Amino acid sequence: MHHPDLCIAGAGIIGLSLALELHDRGYRVTVFDQGAPLAESSTAAAGMLAAHDPDNPPQLLSLASLSLSLYPDFLDRIHTLSGLRIPFQTHTTLQSVPPDTAIADSELTCEDLAHLLPALTPSDHRFVLLDEHSLDPRQLASALLAAVRATTINLQPHTAVLSTHSIDNAVEITTPKGTIHAAQFVNCTGAWAAATSRLPNIPVAPRKGQMFSVSLPPSLPLHFVLRTPDIYIVPRTAGPATGRAIIGATVEDIGFDKAVHPADIDRLRSLAAALLPAIARAHQLEAWSGLRPATSDGLPLLGVLPGQPNHFIATGHYRNGILLAPATARVMAEFIVGGIPSVDLSPFSPARSLSLLPSP
Ligand code: GLY
Repeated sequence: MHHPDLCIAGAGIIGLSLALELHDRGYRVTVFDQGAPLAESSTAAAGMLAAHDPDNPPQLLSLASLSLSLYPDFLDRIHTLSGLRIPFQTHTTLQSVPPDTAIADSELTCEDLAHLLPALTPSDHRFVLLDEHSLDPRQLASALLAAVRATTINLQPHTAVLSTHSIDNAVEITTPKGTIHAAQFVNCTGAWAAATSRLPNIPVAPRKGQMFSVSLPPSLPLHFVLRTPDIYIVPRTAGPATGRAIIGATVEDIGFDKAVHPADIDRLRSLAAALLPAIARAHQLEAWSGLRPATSDGLPLLGVLPGQPNHFIATGHYRNGILLAPATARVMAEFIVGGIPSVDLSPFSPARSLSLLPSP
């Protein structure tokens, strides 16, 4: 195996976006993945770029805003390399907000809602319209993978990083195919991060989400996302999945179990049908689950491991990996090359202590 400048563990959307960003800065990059590229949470996601979801921790906003501003160039770069253009599927989200949120000016009236979505049963929800996009993560994954394959990035699927060891100015990386040295190493293994690096303060653990897709009935043309704290309904309006809606998701702490349970899917369907009754009879197409990489304070881990100057980490994106990929790639590349990151990374420092942080 040749010796790269930098080695990434994890060929999900975070690892491959970072690989592209560093490749564009002249780095020789190798990316390992224990399985197939983009096969875990990157393609389980619904694809909402939900920077203004009221459930997000406030400390995420600077990174999320940077990512939104980078998204058009990120998609253009992927298009240039792959020839594949990724369209936004939706441009608006109808978001339910909690009663104590100060949104009086923008709250939609019953008449607004009836005009916007006659099929909606709003019950006791208050809704606002968010200027928010979504895309199809499966389309994005195909294009991102083709983009990476069009470069000199050395992608090594089905090659787990078994251990890493910091030595002098390098990191020794052991895989089943042998041991290599790289000047720098980045752990982007999502929910598996704790098996790849010894994490100092903030644990990362899988938080499972089950979801399903339906064929939207002709009586229910849906062109925007509908989201409450309990359920989201995300229509596909462009590409091969046009006419479907993705409905999710459970939030479960049960380790690396990815089983899909019909009873849980039925419960999600009931929650969705309480808002849009036609969903009750919509034809189910697929059901699946993904393992979100969750940290105990709800914020990602972005930076260098304490005492290991060449061992970086970028994980813990929880529900926002698709949204945060371009900004994560940008700020991690800036940090790795020794520059000043475009946003303050201290809230995301791997060395942060939970006791110093306000509750998310
Ligand atoms: N990003 C949507 C979810 O976590 O369910």
